Amino acid sequence: MEILDGKKVSNQIKEEITVEVAQMKERGEKVPHLAAVLVGNDGASLTYVGSKVRSCKKIGFESTLIHLPEETTEEDLLKQVHQLNNDPAIDGYIVQLPLPKHIDEEKVLMAVDPDKDVDGFHPTNFGKMALDMETFISATPFGIMELLKRYKVDTEGKHTVVIGRSHIVGRPISILMSQKGNPGNSTVTLAHSRTKNLKELTLQADIVISALGVPKFLKADMVKDGVTIIDVGITRVPDESKEKGYYITGDVDFENVSKKASYITPVPGGVGPMTIAMLLKNTLLARERHNA
Ligand code: GUN
Repeated sequence: MEILDGKKVSNQIKEEITVEVAQMKERGEKVPHLAAVLVGNDGASLTYVGSKVRSCKKIGFESTLIHLPEETTEEDLLKQVHQLNNDPAIDGYIVQLPLPKHIDEEKVLMAVDPDKDVDGFHPTNFGKMALDMETFISATPFGIMELLKRYKVDTEGKHTVVIGRSHIVGRPISILMSQKGNPGNSTVTLAHSRTKNLKELTLQADIVISALGVPKFLKADMVKDGVTIIDVGITRVPDESKEKGYYITGDVDFENVSKKASYITPVPGGVGPMTIAMLLKNTLLARERHNA
């Protein structure tokens, strides 16, 4: 069994980007500038956005955090989005999800300029991804593909079962895994909450990608020997004995499933750190495209 070490790989990617940014600086070019918009004070979102901004500083990017109050109106948020679209200093930006309930998420994401949409959430970018065109691929599916690539996990002709059909993970990764290429060329089954025979499917899987958000859902008796496991779940489970009052766990019963797996991502330290690295990579791409 080999651990797919997202922390290690994400650090490598960040080092590679750091070198590129230093070269940009030496050439007297503008360095990439990422902005993040956060509305409200959701605990996990504060952590993620803080981490994204810190990573920018570390690798030499410019970064701007726009933290708006929970009661921000949809109209004001849209104004902020238009301002970012029109600000030539900003190469790419993200609007951290989830947004407060009174704001129409779809409306906001549709307003983001696709050329600055480093999250890859805009329909234009999602559509390009589905058609194999150059675009911004969302950080989580992009991170999974990069992890499989760097560990040379063989995906060709394999049966990949994706659990979960969310717009930001399940749906796009099911498309990417079936695309021509390496990684890719996989035969994909996309399972979801209405799937009736999930265990039957996962038992046939060479690769399971779980993006469900149910702690320890995938058990050892649901997978075959030699399976590759990508665990995208990150759930905070309340635990008074921990300093933070919770611990983080994935969708997979790691202790038991890892005994049968050939490759497996841990939680934390698997897919999670990769997402930040890929967001930075997209921001670098945005800068390069704006330069071109
Ligand atoms: N919330 C959870 N994941 C993400 C992400 O990748 N991007 C944004 N903007 N919000 C998120």
